[in-house]
Amino acid sequence: MIRLDRFISERTEYTRSAIKEMAKKGKISVDGIAEKSPDRKIDPENVAVKVDGRLISSQRYRYILLNKPAGYVCSTDDRDGETVMKLIPDEWRTKNMFPAGRLDKDTLGALLITDDGTLAHRILSPASHVPKIYIVKLDRPFQSKYIDIFKNGLEFPSGEVCMPARLQPVENCEKLAFVELCEGKYHQVKRMFETVENSVEKLARVCVGGLILPEKLAIGQCMELLHKDVENLFLPPDFDLVCRNFSGFFSAIPINK
Ligand code: URA
Repeated sequence: MIRLDRFISERTEYTRSAIKEMAKKGKISVDGIAEKSPDRKIDPENVAVKVDGRLISSQRYRYILLNKPAGYVCSTDDRDGETVMKLIPDEWRTKNMFPAGRLDKDTLGALLITDDGTLAHRILSPASHVPKIYIVKLDRPFQSKYIDIFKNGLEFPSGEVCMPARLQPVENCEKLAFVELCEGKYHQVKRMFETVENSVEKLARVCVGGLILPEKLAIGQCMELLHKDVENLFLPPDFDLVCRNFSGFFSAIPINK
């Protein structure tokens, strides 16, 4: 059992004082009946709480999968530029949400946004090695020698060595390839291709662990995930299947995205 105001505060952007005010005005209901006492204890699993007519999910944490467009930074601080947080509908926002990963401003694709710090840590911790698959459009044609260089642990000019990475060119598209990384160094994909004297023109992440970008999720759109879907993050992705399904990713994007 938890206090009604705590239940709402943890799952929305409302402060405790705003909740108190709304309760006074009859804007909060429990099982359809207006509740004026924000300190009332409720069983989160067994009551329907509404604020201003909107049902508050009983799930403690919120998990949002965004198909990130170019032009937004993975930050909660808009001093860095327009942030991905702007793309989340108001009713899905909670106070402590943040992007659980860093895609560059010009990178597209799968990004998890959550207020579950423990889960975010499991994804982001350097020790976790959650595999991530990217599709890359290169400036110059792909060369088959890259495959072994990436597989054997590419070394940056600085001497820093990358973990073995899988690479697969897209058939009949000489500038497209998939790369699977199990770590997240700064600008890693771009720096890896620069090291082999190519460069990345476009980059999109198509899966994080076994969580694959759903086909129906257009660029710029987000969807809410349930806790059980989130566990897919910790399953290995099927690299060959992902490569088959996403080879047309860039050609399906409208020109201005
Ligand atoms: N590697 C990059 O270079 N950029 C990203 O956004 C992600 C991986």
